[in-house]
This record gives sequence, structure tokens and C-alpha cells, in this order.
Amino acid sequence: MSQFDRVKEHLLGHQYTWLVSGVAGFIGSHLLEFLLQHQQKIIGLDNFATGYQKNLDEVLANFSKADFTFIEGDIRDLATCQKACECVDFVLHQAALGSVPRSIKDPLTSHQVNVTGFLNMLITAKDVGVKRFVYASSSSVYGDSPLLPKVETHQGNPLSPYAVTKMTDELYAKAFGGCYPIKTIGLRYFNVFGARQNPHGQYAAVIPVWSKAIIHNEPVYINGDGETSRDFCYIQNVVQANILSAFAEAEEAFNTAYNVAVGDQTTLNELYSILRDLLNNPGHQASYRDFRAGDVRHSLASIDMAKNLLGYDPQYKIRQGLVEVIAWYQHNVV
Ligand SMILES: NC(=O)c1ccc[n+]([C@@H]2O[C@H](COP(=O)([O-])OP(=O)(O)OC[C@H]3O[C@@H](n4cnc5c(N)ncnc54)[C@H](O)[C@@H]3O)[C@@H](O)[C@H]2O)c1
Repeated sequence: MSQFDRVKEHLLGHQYTWLVSGVAGFIGSHLLEFLLQHQQKIIGLDNFATGYQKNLDEVLANFSKADFTFIEGDIRDLATCQKACECVDFVLHQAALGSVPRSIKDPLTSHQVNVTGFLNMLITAKDVGVKRFVYASSSSVYGDSPLLPKVETHQGNPLSPYAVTKMTDELYAKAFGGCYPIKTIGLRYFNVFGARQNPHGQYAAVIPVWSKAIIHNEPVYINGDGETSRDFCYIQNVVQANILSAFAEAEEAFNTAYNVAVGDQTTLNELYSILRDLLNNPGHQASYRDFRAGDVRHSLASIDMAKNLLGYDPQYKIRQGLVEVIAWYQHNVV
């Protein structure tokens, strides 16, 4: 039996209270779904900055609403964080403003949400004495480090304000772990994809944007020569990493951050070709344009640390994840 199977079995016999911040967003809504499937109580916090009521509705349609309490509020407000954290066992902190380009355009708001908001949540979690504070970091913390695969101990210089915010969060979490009796775990997500990821707007991620374009015969633009690569990670792997983190026991597992990915490298050209194939549109042609400022050239994770200390065992490689999500795109992406 895997560690994740053991934890899932444990959850079915024990009801905990979880705070999921950013619950109306892509990743938060999947955490909500998993926790409801395992009969947990969830407090969800979101201000709908980039999240949607329809994400909550899609999940809640399949469950009794009795186990879910939603607080519409902003993590930049300490009192809101305090209200949300009352009586909580675990915090899964996802709320942030994502996107490198957004942070380049408006670094101050990214800082206020991703750093000040993060600190508000961390202070509150420490004061309440939660069992674990698990939070979303990002592969962007590797910055200009040329080392591949990325290992947790070798960070480079940040290439964007967004990367600085996530690095700062990790520093705060580590310092809090040293100063107070709080157990934190950071998860450096690498290009997550799955259902409910927003395909609209200038800051949308590549997989939903390209899927929408291929479905509707709209143009796909590949930044650079298409040989830029990423370690694309299906959402169910990310859910697994969060839940395992909440139940990590080893002292050395705490107050550090882990890569959450698959350990596979896929170029943009390969990604485009898989999507065109799965969406059954062989005649679609992509166009190439300039590289985008702040983007790293290659990204590939070592997931050994998460395997060893959390029992992480990702079940989905890119193609399996895309096969699972493609029907959702076909039915929901307009
Ligand atoms: N999706 C990825 O590939 C990826 C990669 C690396 C890191 N991350 C991190 O994972 C987390 C979740 O990302 P996502 O992809 O689900 O993005 P998302 O935009 O879908 O979700 C973020 C959620 O946070 C909410 N939020 C933003 N500002 C808030 C505020 N001030 N107060 C309360 N709620 C607020 C948004 O409304 C949204 O629902 C973020 O911390 C992001 O930086 C995501």
C-alpha cells in the first residue's frame, strides 16, 4: 500500500477541518474536491481576484454543502485570515497572484498578495497552532540556475518579481519554523495543468490557452523556437503532494520546500503536437514569435526529495493527464 493510500484510508475514518485559501481557483478547487470526496470539513477563502464561483459550483454540485464553509475575503486583511483559521487543523495555502508577466507589470500588487497576504496567513496559522501549514511555492524560485534537473538546494537568482515573492514566502516559512512551534511545508509546483484552469486572459497558462485555440481553430503562438521545455504536472499529482504534506511526520520533512512535478521534460513543440493529436485537429498550424521576458529556458525537476520525505509518487505523466483533461476542455472551454 502506498503512503497516499494509507493517508486516504485514514481520512475516511477521521474528519479534520482544513482551510483552503484560493479555493475558487484552479488548484484550490481540486483540493476542495478531494477533501469533500474524503468526507473532510473545509473552510474556503477567496476574493475572486482570479478565481470563479463557477469553479466552486462545479465541485459542490456533486456533494452535500454541509461540510463546506466559504468566506469571501482577502488574505491582505489579517482579521479575515484570523476568522478563516479559527478551529482549523490544516492549512493548504494556495491564494496568490500567479503569472510572471503579471508581476512584471504590477509588482506591488503581486507583493502585497503573495508576500504580505502570505505573512498574514502564516502569522495566523502560528497563533492558532495548526497541525501543518502547507503552501504553494513555485519552480520560478530556481531563476537563472542552469542546473538540470532542479534540486531543492540549488536555487539561482530570481528572474521576476513573482519569483521574488515565492522565494520570500519560503524564507518566511523557514524562519517561522525556527522561531515558533509551527510545521510548514512549501511545494514548488512546476507548470500544473488540469480541469478548471482558466484559458482566458493575457496571464492564462499555455495548456488551456492552446487547447482552446486548437478546439476553435484559432492561432497558437509559440514563444521562441519551441524548444523551451517544462516539467508539466497534472493536477492530481499536486493534490497528492498537498495531502501527503499535511500528514508528513519526519522532523526533517518540515520547514523546507519540495519540487512537485513528474521528473519529465517536454518541449513546447512536443506539447503542441500532443494537444493537436488529442484534440484531433491535424490541420492546425502554430506560429512562432519572440521569447517572453522573464521566462526560464528549461525546467525539469528532481522529485527525489518529495519521494523520500513525503512518500510522493506521481501517478500521472503529461500524456495521461492530458488524456484525462481533454474531454473537460472540449465541453467547457468556449
Ligand atoms: N498553476 C500553476 O502551474 C502554478 C505553478 C506554480 C505555482 N502556483 C501557485 O499555486 C497557487 C494556486 O495557483 P492556481 O494555478 O490555482 O491559480 P488561480 O489563479 O486559479 O488560483 C489562485 C486563487 O487565489 C485567489 N486569490 C488571489 N488573490 C487573493 C487574495 N488577495 N485573497 C484571497 N484570495 C486570493 C484567486 O481568486 C484564485 O481563486 C498560487 O499560489 C500559485 O502561485 C501555480
